[in-house]
Amino acid sequence: MYRILDVLRQADNFISGQEIGNMLSVSRAAVWKGIEKLRQEGYEIEAVTNKGYRLIHPETMYNKRELETGRKTKRMGYPVYFWKETDSTNNRIRELAFEGAEEGTLAVAEVQTAGRGRRGKPWRSPVGTGIWMSVLLRPQIAPTQASVMTLLGGLAVCEALENMTKLKTKIKWPNDIYIGHKKVVGILTEMDCELTQVHFVVMGIGINVNTKAFPADLQDIATSLYLESGQTYSRKKLVQNIMEVLERYYDAFVEAGTFAPFLEAYRKKCMTLRKEVTVFAKEPFAATALDITEDGELLVKRADNGKKEVVYAGEVSIRGVIK
Ligand code: BTN
Repeated sequence: MYRILDVLRQADNFISGQEIGNMLSVSRAAVWKGIEKLRQEGYEIEAVTNKGYRLIHPETMYNKRELETGRKTKRMGYPVYFWKETDSTNNRIRELAFEGAEEGTLAVAEVQTAGRGRRGKPWRSPVGTGIWMSVLLRPQIAPTQASVMTLLGGLAVCEALENMTKLKTKIKWPNDIYIGHKKVVGILTEMDCELTQVHFVVMGIGINVNTKAFPADLQDIATSLYLESGQTYSRKKLVQNIMEVLERYYDAFVEAGTFAPFLEAYRKKCMTLRKEVTVFAKEPFAATALDITEDGELLVKRADNGKKEVVYAGEVSIRGVIK
């Protein structure tokens, strides 16, 4: 039946059952059966007497087949594992990684029932409107370097979103993506490692794409690409674009062996720099955000004693602006 899908995809306009049958050396009845199966999977296929069949809006379809079709990457975003519903795509990639899955393997879910955010917070992942996905990376780096993967992911998602939507995005260190003062993307990077070597990294990316409204508790802090632009976007195209940019960035990172080539671009995108912040360490403290180091840490100057300090990971709020 997917051969029929490919024929429909390639035909610009209507194509008759007879023609499809001839092309694939199958009967018209078999074509009709295949079309019905595709419809059951959710593909919208128009049928008009004397004209034939036409595939409508294939770009809005979101499944393994669509996400793998037309990809331009060597390995990032392939193969795709797709779940209509799962607890968390980060959990799925973790399992696949232990089973020996290749770098670039992508897990995507239509709904996550236990989506996780950073610091144990839940991540709301409702049906139909967002991208909830995790990609498997196997960088040959030490665990101490792993946090730069997080920054790299943020930067790559920003570039891809800006390419596709023309919206202006900013990063709140380390990798929350904002449009204006509202968050549109969250990234949760988890890893499995020993003392000196990372075994694998799971980069989990959550994007509010076509969300039309948020629940009351999120309204003031969350936004979506739709709410910012008034347009709906193809999740398939966004996922594929993100995988392309991520592959380019990741390869450059692996070749350089450091985050240095990205530092300038990251500094430009980072909304935390030069702001008054609160660092939520064991004892929260007020500080000014000064710079990003080559290892991706945030350099701050404490308000209480004027000393400079490096923040490795964690929660930083921009005072008076963003929690
Ligand atoms: C955050 O901002 O706190 C991070 C949110 C990360 C959400 C994504 S959605 C896909 C992947 N699976 C999860 O359970 N979490 C990440």
